[in-house]
Amino acid sequence: LRLQFLLNVSAPQSASAPDLAAEKLLAATTAVGWVRDGMRVGLGTGSTAAPFITLLGQRVREGGLRIEATATSRASEELARQVGIPLLEPRRGLRFDLTVDGADELDAQLRLIKGGGGALLREKVIATASDYLLIVADSTKAVGQLGRFPLPLEVVPFALPWVMDAVADLGGAPVLRMDKQNPLEPAHSDQGNLLVDCHFQQIEDPAMLAAQLIVIPGMVEHGLFLGLARAAVVAQGGQAQVWRP
Ligand code: 5RP
Repeated sequence: LRLQFLLNVSAPQSASAPDLAAEKLLAATTAVGWVRDGMRVGLGTGSTAAPFITLLGQRVREGGLRIEATATSRASEELARQVGIPLLEPRRGLRFDLTVDGADELDAQLRLIKGGGGALLREKVIATASDYLLIVADSTKAVGQLGRFPLPLEVVPFALPWVMDAVADLGGAPVLRMDKQNPLEPAHSDQGNLLVDCHFQQIEDPAMLAAQLIVIPGMVEHGLFLGLARAAVVAQGGQAQVWRP
């Protein structure tokens, strides 16, 4: 019960609906077992990465695990500090043995849509600086084809109208993300940029779309993560499966 409270895990809503909080906790618990003494660890962002950070902190405090970490968002950094994980500032040459992060969608090739939590830029930076990216996901994240989840984009504020025109020309329907606390104001990333959620419905060729998006002037980053994830822990019901591309 105490662990449930600490990790903000609630009881199942109904007998038939998947208990997503329990699936996230199971994926996170499984991923903590991948962390070894002495590792440099990238800490993801979101409601699946958060219990991973909390449990990892517990191993640091109570199990004597020695690790150093860098977080992919201010929120995850704050959580890591609270649970006692030593943090590293970005610096040249810094690489991570293992990064554990969530995803909004993943397919069988471990191509991902990320950025639902607005942290896609730092997440891609840390994933690229990692030898091993492990995704933690509940059962709703696994899809046959990417694109039902609107693709998050991080955009320089000045360039917003032209970026929206350009992604519409590529067949997307862009929507400026609004701030959850203040719905009349746009949401900002940790870098102070704007976030756009772009509805494509189905992404037939993720690699081609990624190549087209990244060259749009003012596009800081898009949420397609291709060829980065090495494995995923996907929890369904009481079982955690490890997927590899
Ligand atoms: C944040 C992300 C998250 O990893 C993604 O949104 C999944 O989050 P959650 O585990 O809460 O479903 O990309 O930018």
